[in-house]
Amino acid sequence: MTARLLDGRAVAAQIREELRPRVAALAATGRPPGLAVVRVGDDPASLSYVTAKRRACAELGIISSEWHLPASASRAEILATVERLNEDPSVDGILVQLPLPDSSIEPDVIEVIRPEKDVDGFHPVNVGRMMLGLPAFLPCTPHGIVQLLRRSGISTVGAHVVIVGRSQIVGRPLAHLLSRKGPDADATVTLCHTRTRELAAHTRLADIVVAAAGRPGTLRGDMIRDGAVVVDVGVNRVPDPARPCGYRLVGDADFESVASRAAAITPVPGGVGPMTIAMLLANTVAAAEWRGGAAR
Ligand code: GUN
Repeated sequence: MTARLLDGRAVAAQIREELRPRVAALAATGRPPGLAVVRVGDDPASLSYVTAKRRACAELGIISSEWHLPASASRAEILATVERLNEDPSVDGILVQLPLPDSSIEPDVIEVIRPEKDVDGFHPVNVGRMMLGLPAFLPCTPHGIVQLLRRSGISTVGAHVVIVGRSQIVGRPLAHLLSRKGPDADATVTLCHTRTRELAAHTRLADIVVAAAGRPGTLRGDMIRDGAVVVDVGVNRVPDPARPCGYRLVGDADFESVASRAAAITPVPGGVGPMTIAMLLANTVAAAEWRGGAAR
């Protein structure tokens, strides 16, 4: 079998086109949507993600600003930056790019973001509202995966989805979204992680495998059944002296062997990544439309 490629770039472009009239309507009121991005330190991957997010904002007419703090910035300085943005009426959405150089302060930083500006959907209020099935900002990568499957015509209803990776940003919220009731969900979900025994025994049972472990080679072709759908969330830089930048991006799946057995697979790059950005744009537009209200 040669896998069909699930084109995240094309689906993300479709979502951006759907957002365009909503951005235009906001701009016509004199206040286009505004996103503030906080970046701490000089992690090259974070810089490239933030650059891609800001470029996507500019293309759509969302006004973005970047607040770059040195890696040495204190907890108090980072919190004060977020608090200023909370008070700034031109800012509809606030995104603090993770990981922070000191990851131990991430929960405090996330909690200080006003829930109605939390376009990442990481604040405990939004996580709690999502878990309860109340309107909330949904986290961008899991929501992007749900949208990519739906818009690619892959139903999750009644399907067995095996997720490899239990992060707060991807695996855990995705398990929740896919196991909810509803036409874009209704899956039976298995959440695997680093302590799972016999990982391949689980992934071989899956109709849909989501590789979100953050490690290349997590999923190989012999670990899936023929005709499975594979969503690869990994973005890993591996050294490649043949390239001017010295690296190339690979996912968590071993693309060749997995694509030879799968019915469909998301490429890296060009699969989940563009969908994450599209959902960030959607959340920012929604935040601007709900300006001043609660996240609902
Ligand atoms: N780091 C990796 N993914 C994300 C994301 O979706 N949002 C933020 N803020 N940081 C990230």
